[in-house]
Amino acid sequence: MSDNDDVTVYDAVGGMPFFERLAELFYVGVKGDPVLRPMYPDDDMEGAQRRLALFLAQFWGGPTTYMEERGHPMLRARHMPFPIGEAERDRWLVCIAAAVEELTEPGEIRELLMGYFVPAADAMRNEGFQQTRPS
Ligand code: HEM
Repeated sequence: MSDNDDVTVYDAVGGMPFFERLAELFYVGVKGDPVLRPMYPDDDMEGAQRRLALFLAQFWGGPTTYMEERGHPMLRARHMPFPIGEAERDRWLVCIAAAVEELTEPGEIRELLMGYFVPAADAMRNEGFQQTRPS
């Protein structure tokens, strides 16, 4: 435990502008990605970008605007309409990692962010699992 336990990641990165920029850079990647691009709403990329920024700001200790606008995140359920296998997960991680690397230096904040994104993106998979038991 450090002396900074009361400082949220949200505060440490400078608040909402960081998450807005992170989501913006992430969607630059999505728009150029042949796997991801078709999955996202053509007519509401700005809305999708805003929802990601607000969710991440809330997740890391910022204002609860996401919850007020969208309700409980239930992210796995919200991703069910989109077929997410290993390829989609990996492309998503490439885009978010590029954004994180552009906005942070190597160090604790980058590790905290990626330490969340890697398992969370994996948890969003909803297809393409190996059969673990004989059917
Ligand atoms: C850490 C992992 C992830 C987080 C935090 C995350 C976050 C979000 C959020 C907050 C939304 C908007 C939900 C809403 O309010 O309606 C969303 C939508 C979406 N996500 Fe993810 N996501 C993750 C992983 C993935 C992965 C791996 C994919 C694979 C392609 C994916 C594809 C999508 C798509 C297609 C949408 C719909 C766009 C929209 O209308 O907002 N997400 N995600």
